[in-house]
Amino acid sequence: MQLHYLLSICLLAFASLVFAETIPQNHILFGEQGAGLVKRASTTASTSTSTKVADAACTNGPLTRSCWGGGFSIATDFDQKHPTTGKTVSYNLELTNTTCNPDGAGSKICLLFNGQYPAPTIRASWGDNLSITVKNSMQDNGTSIHWHGIRQLGSNAADGVSGITECPLAPGDTRTYTFLCTQFGTSWYHSHYSAQYGDGAVGAIIIEGPASSNYDIDLGSYMVSEWYYPTSYQINYAASVNLQTGSPPPNADNILVN
Ligand SMILES: *[C@@H]1O[C@H](CO)[C@@H](O)[C@H](O)[C@H]1NC(C)=O
Ligand SMILES: *[C@@H]1O[C@H](CO)[C@@H](O)[C@H](O)[C@H]1NC(C)=O
Ligand SMILES: *[C@@H]1O[C@H](CO)[C@@H](O)[C@H](O)[C@H]1NC(C)=O
Repeated sequence: MQLHYLLSICLLAFASLVFAETIPQNHILFGEQGAGLVKRASTTASTSTSTKVADAACTNGPLTRSCWGGGFSIATDFDQKHPTTGKTVSYNLELTNTTCNPDGAGSKICLLFNGQYPAPTIRASWGDNLSITVKNSMQDNGTSIHWHGIRQLGSNAADGVSGITECPLAPGDTRTYTFLCTQFGTSWYHSHYSAQYGDGAVGAIIIEGPASSNYDIDLGSYMVSEWYYPTSYQINYAASVNLQTGSPPPNADNILVN
């Protein structure tokens, strides 16, 4: 399977990626008590209840998004230290073989979580446990679900990569993925079985935490994707044939925003 082709044909970009790679290296370090936090430029002071300067607890607010509280902030190295809230956030996802028509051009076979495209957004906070129960209700494919970009230290079996960390879930099977959110930011989750996610089995996953820029309100994420009218299995086959003749993969029929 041409994985790089699949990646390039199925996904363009995600809004508001704030994983570790984007944490500025030159940020002002502030101590566990929040001393020395430097405010970022903002024009929203009039309606905000937050102060422009972090309080001693470094509380998160519209003008202090780099704070998180409890001794944690954007400066925390989350590979060394992270909160544990003791809270478990649960989701149920059922993957079905159905149809969708996101751009109005016509109905096509889609493999969707809970009948939605994109799939429901999964949202938890830094230090929460996520418990996501997946049911495979498709007739003709196995599945496994990958939480893209999420570190699975100590929970490797929840990584959801069929053929690597688990056998695929057979049609009719259910399993629960459980892991601790040691990191924060916006990413995505997707089927990690063959070309399946190109037919719609994708959604956003948001782990709330501190941010490197201030904002008033979190408007959530939106997904941007190329869209093909044939199924992803048909496109995957065409891309493989083209690869052998040195041709590029087929062009997408449309681009979807959310
Ligand atoms: C989805 O349903 C179609 C029939 O409408 C069938 O041909 C196909 O194999 C099914 N796909 C999966 C993944 O179950
Ligand atoms: C998955 O289902 C598709 C039809 O939706 C079928 O073409 C494909 O062969 C199936 N793949 C596997 C590996 O089961
Ligand atoms: C949260 O997940 C961790 C790691 O998988 C586990 O050790 C812990 O027992 C879980 N806690 C709760 C409250 O479920």
